[in-house]
Amino acid sequence: MNEPLLVFRGIEKSFAGSQILRNVDLLLYPGNCILLSGKNGAGKSTLLKIIAGLETPEQAEIEYSGESHSWKTVIRSIRKNIIYLHQQPFLFSGTVLSNVAYGLRFTSLNRKQRRESVIEALEWAGLTDVATQDAKTLSRGVQQRVAFTRAWILKPKVLLLDEPMANMDHESREQTSLLLRRMKSSGMSIVVTSHMQQYYDGLADQHFHFKRGRLVP
Ligand SMILES: Nc1ncnc2c1ncn2[C@@H]1O[C@H](COP(=O)(O)OP(=O)(O)OP(=O)(O)O)[C@@H](O)[C@H]1O
Ligand SMILES: [Mg+2]
Repeated sequence: MNEPLLVFRGIEKSFAGSQILRNVDLLLYPGNCILLSGKNGAGKSTLLKIIAGLETPEQAEIEYSGESHSWKTVIRSIRKNIIYLHQQPFLFSGTVLSNVAYGLRFTSLNRKQRRESVIEALEWAGLTDVATQDAKTLSRGVQQRVAFTRAWILKPKVLLLDEPMANMDHESREQTSLLLRRMKSSGMSIVVTSHMQQYYDGLADQHFHFKRGRLVP
C-alpha cells in the first residue's frame, strides 16, 4: 500500500465512566476499504463519529503529511474531506435530483456544471429513472443509494458507512456492493461497519473486530 492518507492513533472514549474505545488505531489508505464488526454497543458507530469529527474523544492523535497533531487541533480542518453516512439515510423532502444536488450548492461549481455533475452521478448510481420522484417515497434500499450518491458527488477522500446494508433485500445489497466497489476504485478510503461480513468479500481489504474496546484483526 502507498502512504496512508490519515492515521488516527490512540483513540480513547468513555461514556458515563464506561470505557468504549481503548487505544484504538486506524490507518486510512486511498482506495482501501476497512470492515469493522463487533456486537451491538461495541463502539463501531462511536469510532466512525470520532473520525468524522461528530463525537469528541478523550484522547486521540491524527497523523497526516508526516506530522502528528492532536485530534482537537486538526479535526476541523480535515473533516471537510470526510463524510459519515448514518444507518438510517437522512433525505430531505423533494426529488431525488434535488437531494443529490444539495451538497453542490456549497461548492464553486456554476449552475451548468452542477447540473452536469448531478446527471452524471444519477447515471452512475442507476437512479436516472427515479430522478424526479419524491425521495422519501422510495424504498429503503433506493433511499440508501440516493444517500450514497449525494455523498459520492462531493468526492470525499474518506467515506464512513454505518451499517449501509441493514434492512436491505438481496438485490439492493448487490447494487450497494457494486457502488461501493466503484467508490473504492475511484480512490476513496472507505470504513464500513457491518454485521454481515459475507457482503464484503472482495471489497474489504482489512477486517477488524471490536473486542473489549480494542480492534483486533
Ligand atoms: N451519546 C452517547 N451517550 C452515552 N452513551 C453513548 C452515546 N453514544 C453511544 N453510547 C454508548 O456507547 C456504547 C457504544 O455505542 P455504539 O453506538 O458506538 O455501538 P455500536 O457498536 O455502533 O452498536 P450497534 O451495533 O448497536 O450499532 C453503547 O453502550 C452506547 O450505549
Ligand atoms: Mg452502531
